[in-house]
Amino acid sequence: MRSLLITNIGELTTHAGEGTLTDAAIVVTDRVQWIGPAALPQPADEVYDAQGAAVLPGFVDSHAHLVFAGDRAAEFAARMAGQPYTGGGIRTTTAATRAATDEQLRGNVERLVQEMRRQGTTTVEIKSGYGLTTDDEARSLRLAGEFTPETTYLGAHVVPPDTDRDTYLGLLTGEMLQACAPHAKWVDVFCERGAFDVDEARAVLAAGMAEGLLPRIHANQLTEGGGVRLAVELGAASADHCTHLSAADVDALAGSATIATLLPGAEFSTRSPYPDARRLLDAGATVALATDCNPGSSYTSSMPFCIALGVREMHLTPAEAIWAATLGGAHALRRSDVGHLGVGAHADLVILDAPSSLHLAYRPGVPLVNKVLHKGVWVR
Ligand code: NIG
Ligand code: FE
Repeated sequence: MRSLLITNIGELTTHAGEGTLTDAAIVVTDRVQWIGPAALPQPADEVYDAQGAAVLPGFVDSHAHLVFAGDRAAEFAARMAGQPYTGGGIRTTTAATRAATDEQLRGNVERLVQEMRRQGTTTVEIKSGYGLTTDDEARSLRLAGEFTPETTYLGAHVVPPDTDRDTYLGLLTGEMLQACAPHAKWVDVFCERGAFDVDEARAVLAAGMAEGLLPRIHANQLTEGGGVRLAVELGAASADHCTHLSAADVDALAGSATIATLLPGAEFSTRSPYPDARRLLDAGATVALATDCNPGSSYTSSMPFCIALGVREMHLTPAEAIWAATLGGAHALRRSDVGHLGVGAHADLVILDAPSSLHLAYRPGVPLVNKVLHKGVWVR
């Protein structure tokens, strides 16, 4: 494969042994080959002059629900006029998703993945969860797999209105799981009042694990339930949302390898209190940031927006927020080849229209992502 030298980098954030370099250069093929001072000449087939701009790893968005049809703009408007978020709208999107053709669903995923790439995301996780029949969940995962290896079986999003609870739990751990497992890496459950309780979530995750899927959980989004402790009990890669945490939840996360994935787009779009990232970090937990992109609770595809919220509203430093949006997301997906720019990592990087990555939070809402390289290929 052809090599590319990116030189005159004003600030190069590697999240690897090299740390953050100034006046730096990087040589990549599909992987990172070399990192060092711009003053050291390096041979390469092509050269890109960054003209003093900041370069950082591509964002790792470890939580997104992209396989759906329709939108719920009216529900957002109602919330901004004072209505609470309950998750009940999942059923509205499920009806629209079931009625959509494969081409319509694929087109929507493609549109959102492109939107993400333009904003610097180079790894994305995609969940099912708006089909809620065996065929519609399997179809959602097949389509997700056309875009990413990070596919998540979320049949346990809510009990659909046309099925009784016991029948649906049987499907989730039986026929639907069998149909979905070949297309999924992960199994996820919305563990929440109104969705699935802790015992139900444990049963769904255990059944998925028995089929070789790895567990992750929607935990403690709306209430201080038992989702986070279940995540730790099962050794889940990640507990996602973590909005309402008890002291025991924080201790459990701090004492485990489970990442706390915070989704501030959801708090923004549901007008809810933000999770306390500072409390988690100070206790010793590891924090990731992701978009939760979905038509109900968080219709943003922008990791820079989540970074800005993480800094302004959740008391992360800019460096912590950028780490959480890159290497933090990689940890939440148990990936060692993305989220950093150490030699051997995927050549996934972002060139900003700014001299330092601090500008992502300092200049919120400004389209600072200038160029994006994914596995050594320019995608923006
Ligand atoms: O992560 N909380 C559960 N699932 C999604 C929202 C789904 C929806 O409202 O459509 C979430 O926020
Ligand atoms: Fe979610």
